[in-house]
Amino acid sequence: MAPASNDIPALILGTAMWGWTMDAHICFSVLDTFYEAGFRQVDAATNYPINRQPADFRLSERILCDWIRTHGVTDLRVMMKVGSVDNMRSPDNNLRKSFLLMCLDDYRELLGPNLDMLMIHWDNRDDQSEIAQTLEALALVRAAGLKVGLSGIRFPEVYAKANETLQLNFYIQIKHNLLQSDYNKYKPFHGKRRFLAYGINAGGVKLDAAEYAPKSSLTVRGGDTSNQSPLIAGLINWLDSQQAKYVSDFNQCSMAYAYHSKDIAGLLIGPSRVDQLRDTIDFYKKLQQTDYQHIYDQLVELKKQYAGAQ
Ligand SMILES: NC(=O)c1ccc[n+]([C@@H]2O[C@H](COP(=O)([O-])OP(=O)(O)OC[C@H]3O[C@@H](n4cnc5c(N)ncnc54)[C@H](OP(=O)(O)O)[C@@H]3O)[C@@H](O)[C@H]2O)c1
Repeated sequence: MAPASNDIPALILGTAMWGWTMDAHICFSVLDTFYEAGFRQVDAATNYPINRQPADFRLSERILCDWIRTHGVTDLRVMMKVGSVDNMRSPDNNLRKSFLLMCLDDYRELLGPNLDMLMIHWDNRDDQSEIAQTLEALALVRAAGLKVGLSGIRFPEVYAKANETLQLNFYIQIKHNLLQSDYNKYKPFHGKRRFLAYGINAGGVKLDAAEYAPKSSLTVRGGDTSNQSPLIAGLINWLDSQQAKYVSDFNQCSMAYAYHSKDIAGLLIGPSRVDQLRDTIDFYKKLQQTDYQHIYDQLVELKKQYAGAQ
């Protein structure tokens, strides 16, 4: 399949659960399927999986590097999120210029031509001069021919201010789904297709609560599996009423919603298995071939009705 043009959101494979709920064998089959379908963009982070098991620090990227080595691939486009110093879900990180440049060297060595973008992963600081030094490192990343990005930034307005001189063109990962969105937090960066939506299934929500297995993603990540959100009940009724003509499950509703949202440049998907990935790819093709704007509009109405406008 031809890669998506820049005018529509790209499909990007996430690796947050690699080495956690997904063993290396499953990760390999998922990436095999993704690659064979013509997709190239993969999202990774030094601290994946964030399962609070120190022995698993950087396990997800090790699986990714093994896959690259095994297949001799040079045209993957990996976005690597850096700065974390452990996988304990702590805010501890290192965003000093020297450390980020060390990460750049490290990942160029590990991923070779497959490295496409370096992103800052989590920043709770509000000190503009410290952030300016972080941006100096990103300017050097840019000068090395890579794209740059941000993820989990607590004070985006300080980043915007610190970036006034350098004018770096960031991609930004945001949580963006039917139940919750961080888009409004990033107002200074609105108006350009630069946002990459993650958690589009709200971390693995199932419309039927009986489908949460002990190892389902939402369960292991400590998410809310009670399905008490009124929006979920509303979605179930709405899906029944349109008799699955356009969308038939939560993942499809989530994809249609994110795909048509403003300024979205990519959907970060987190399939746990090959069959989920195949469904996601099939539906992504549908989104490209059929106008789902009216479905997006109805989902926004449902959101307003049940969850309050965001
Ligand atoms: N920047 C950040 O801070 C940040 C944060 C989170 C994630 N991310 C990136 O975004 C990627 C995706 O995030 P996420 O895992 O939170 O995404 P998500 O789409 O909200 O949740 C993924 C879960 O949804 C279910 N699912 C996925 N595809 C499905 C399908 N076709 N049919 C039915 N169920 C499906 C699976 O749950 P079950 O396994 O339970 O079936 C899967 O594990 C991550 O891998 C990571 O690369 C970035």
